[in-house]
Amino acid sequence: MIRPMLTSDVEVVYEIESLGQTHPWTKKQFSEAVDSYQSTVIEYQNRVVGFCILQPVLDEANLLLMAVHPEMRGKGLGYQLLEASMAQLNNDPVQIFLEVRESNKAAIALYEKSGFHQIDMRKNYYPTLDGGKEHAIIMVKACSDNFADLFK
Ligand SMILES: CC(C)(COP(=O)(O)OP(=O)(O)OC[C@H]1O[C@@H](n2cnc3c(N)ncnc32)[C@H](O)[C@@H]1OP(=O)(O)O)[C@@H](O)C(=O)NCCC(=O)NCCS
Repeated sequence: MIRPMLTSDVEVVYEIESLGQTHPWTKKQFSEAVDSYQSTVIEYQNRVVGFCILQPVLDEANLLLMAVHPEMRGKGLGYQLLEASMAQLNNDPVQIFLEVRESNKAAIALYEKSGFHQIDMRKNYYPTLDGGKEHAIIMVKACSDNFADLFK
């Protein structure tokens, strides 16, 4: 089941984020995301096992963050969650943007499967655990139905 994120989900969502990220969001950021963004969770056997946070901005949207619990990856849950979360955006965006670490091959492959492609790169954008930097890949997905609506 995919449903809106609630304040009561923040603890488990933070846990999933902390297992998957070198520089995780804080609980406060997740609490704010419940109110300020379109935040969704995916449940598997009545347990929250993933989340997705989208930020609608005018007629566009940004994918800010998503993750699936490490033990639940590779089962198609991330793809289902992303597709459903994008479909639920109520501003009918013309396009959706995201940034991802260049080394995050699993996420990049997921985003490509969901119709995103690379449009740019920010060099040395993200900090790494060894004190270095890594590039950010900027990707976009054109939401063709909504784009076509502009010309009706
Ligand atoms: C990225 C992430 C959300 C994918 O979730 P998932 O549930 O494992 O993904 P799915 O099982 O739905 O896979 C969907 C597609 O993603 C790609 N993919 C997923 N895991 C992959 C891996 N380890 N290597 C390569 N491609 C991978 C594949 O294209 C896959 O499609 P396929 O099964 O038809 O080949 C998950 O790996 C994760 O939580 N990572 C840590 C957090 C993160 O990096 N978030 C994104 C940046 S904010």
